Amino acid sequence: MSIAVRAHTSKQVCTTCARGRVCSADHGLIDPCCCRTCRYFPSKYRREIGRLNGELEGVVLESIRRSREIADEGRTTSTYGRGLLAMLLAEMEKKKEKGAGDDGKFSYDTRLVIDECKTFFFAGHETSALLLTWTLMLLATHPEWQDKARAEVSQVCGDDPPSADQLSKLTVLQMIIHETLRLYPPATLLPRMAFEDIRLGDLHLPRGLSVWIPVLAIHHDESIWGADAHEFHPERFAAGRRSSAGAGRFLPFAAGPRNCVGQAYALFEAKVVLAMLLANFRFTISDDYRHAPVNVLTLRPKYGVPVHLRPLRP
Ligand code: HEM
Repeated sequence: MSIAVRAHTSKQVCTTCARGRVCSADHGLIDPCCCRTCRYFPSKYRREIGRLNGELEGVVLESIRRSREIADEGRTTSTYGRGLLAMLLAEMEKKKEKGAGDDGKFSYDTRLVIDECKTFFFAGHETSALLLTWTLMLLATHPEWQDKARAEVSQVCGDDPPSADQLSKLTVLQMIIHETLRLYPPATLLPRMAFEDIRLGDLHLPRGLSVWIPVLAIHHDESIWGADAHEFHPERFAAGRRSSAGAGRFLPFAAGPRNCVGQAYALFEAKVVLAMLLANFRFTISDDYRHAPVNVLTLRPKYGVPVHLRPLRP
């Protein structure tokens, strides 16, 4: 069997820029911003932005409707069903102001839920897809680590899909995932702004200064990671050697109060998917693979990652 693993390729638009163009699915590029006023002029780009936004909100509204339907049918005990969306809806319901019901438009609550869903989708979908994509590429090109990870999965999980308890025991897989996030962090830059004058060691950061934390550069810095900084060596994340992942050096999920809220979930999800793939397939990289990481907000494989999957059992 042969599959081409590709990062999320849905169309994107620049919502901050009037001249922002709809990106091509293959390049995912967004034009830099121009002036603020021109966003109010109609153009085919803005119409496309509106259309895509409407389409996306339609999908979210449909999920909300389904969630309510499931609850109405009594298939769950909670009001809105189960899962993150159900929790959001239940929370919003609690906070709903009396009389702020649906007047044919979105209610205040529904608007908030839609926005939260969009944030979770954009923050969590492509990043996780990229983590899986790069991990598969590295395992396919480092068969010795693929074998080690498969042996661990077999020892810990046997022939069954991994349980929540077993996931924490997949330490080799965890090292591989961390090393992948170091070499190919999906989010390569962290933008921040100083809201007040700050002194950071010898540096004075004046209020309003824009600071970009170069995650990709930090993760490849030889003075931090050693001469083999650009190579795939998961053992650097082995227990007892975690010092190399110390504060400020390993930032795939950012750090501090605005770090990734989906971090634990993302690692959990990646482990489940990889463990199941390892248990069922051997993978090798296709001859068509062209190594071309491109940094377009996220770190993507320009030409995808075609991988051959061969079932381990007939
Ligand atoms: C491998 C997967 C992921 C990576 C590498 C990643 C990375 C990041 C990073 C670097 C940030 C901080 C951005 C910044 O402060 O500038 C962030 C924030 C965030 N992430 Fe993730 N993320 C991943 C998966 C997820 C998932 C699965 C979800 C949701 C289910 C999620 C939800 C969020 C949200 C809501 C924020 C904003 C948090 C805030 O501003 O307080 N992420 N993520």
